Amino acid sequence: MTNVKGILAGYSKELDSHIDKFLPFEKPDNLMEATVQYPRAGGKRMRPAMVLAAAGAVGGNKEDAIPLAVAIEYIHNFTLIHDDYMDGDEKRRGMTTIHVKYGGPTAILAGDALFARAFEVIAHLNVPDSVVRGVLKIVTRAVWDLARGQQMDVNNENGEEVTMDEYIETIRLKTSVLFAAGAAGGALIGGADSRTVDAVHEYAMLLGVAFQMFDDVLGLVGDPVKLGKSVGNDVRKGKSTVMVTHALKSIKDQSVMSEFRSILGKANASEDDIRKARKIMEDAGSVDFAVKMAEDYTRRAIAKLDVLSPGEDKEFMIALAEYAMKRDV
Ligand code: IPE
Ligand code: IPE
Ligand code: MG
Ligand code: MG
Repeated sequence: MTNVKGILAGYSKELDSHIDKFLPFEKPDNLMEATVQYPRAGGKRMRPAMVLAAAGAVGGNKEDAIPLAVAIEYIHNFTLIHDDYMDGDEKRRGMTTIHVKYGGPTAILAGDALFARAFEVIAHLNVPDSVVRGVLKIVTRAVWDLARGQQMDVNNENGEEVTMDEYIETIRLKTSVLFAAGAAGGALIGGADSRTVDAVHEYAMLLGVAFQMFDDVLGLVGDPVKLGKSVGNDVRKGKSTVMVTHALKSIKDQSVMSEFRSILGKANASEDDIRKARKIMEDAGSVDFAVKMAEDYTRRAIAKLDVLSPGEDKEFMIALAEYAMKRDV
């Protein structure tokens, strides 16, 4: 059995100094503090670990991929700062979110600062220029898509009825693309041919869908203390998760449906309201449905790795896909 948490911890330890190194403390202090808060707080580091594993799994040198791993983590952290501002959330990685602590303008700028640093780090890649150009294309495309996905996520708030296909497309864009850019970029740096790069990209796209679906489940039924972020706010915002889409299609009882609709998107919903909405979705089989669907995406993700030769990095990538929906954090 691959010990995913142990391997992630090992990668984190290796990456921490690199993640810190590219964030020099300049003026003004409040912007710098806001910029380093999430990178220093850690997190699971799944994306940078995937970059390094992909480089190794295709027979490359993992060290070569470290700058991309750092860049992907910076971009992830930049999107978290902006996402928390957009979602109006107050906790992330167990700490007060940046917009709450430093204000909205500083949150925008801290995100921008991390985004800029990501490209500074990519410029440190010690690989042929043509590979750097390939990496730049992959990474910039991902951030473009991520912006589209985040806008779709916002457009689908307030209990907007969204089809399953629209939901999947939204999470492919807001979440999968960054995992996929990391995996494909890592494989490219590792010297993989285009067929392998594509397969690894597709693996991460599918993994990302499973990851986000399960994240939505945790955002409803998870433990806020363990998660380090608030639970129930998707309901308050009326976000169209797979569970909401399923519930809106499946609830037959009109009084249950009207109760569900009255809570969905209710900004000041109480803990009791949230518990009710959760119970309605559980009773409608919507939580089980989301977990099953995520399992299916995980299986499909793993199947894409058939192109890789056996080895411990491939095993880790398989285990990481399973972990994406077996985690409690
Ligand atoms: C959170 O990602 C944002 C989503 C795409 C759901 P993670 O759950 O990977 O966050 P960290 O990096 O571990 O904090
Ligand atoms: C996060 O999605 C996606 C990005 C940061 C791009 P969510 O808004 O669903 O994730 P959490 O629950 O805040 O981590
Ligand atoms: Mg959010
Ligand atoms: Mg969001």
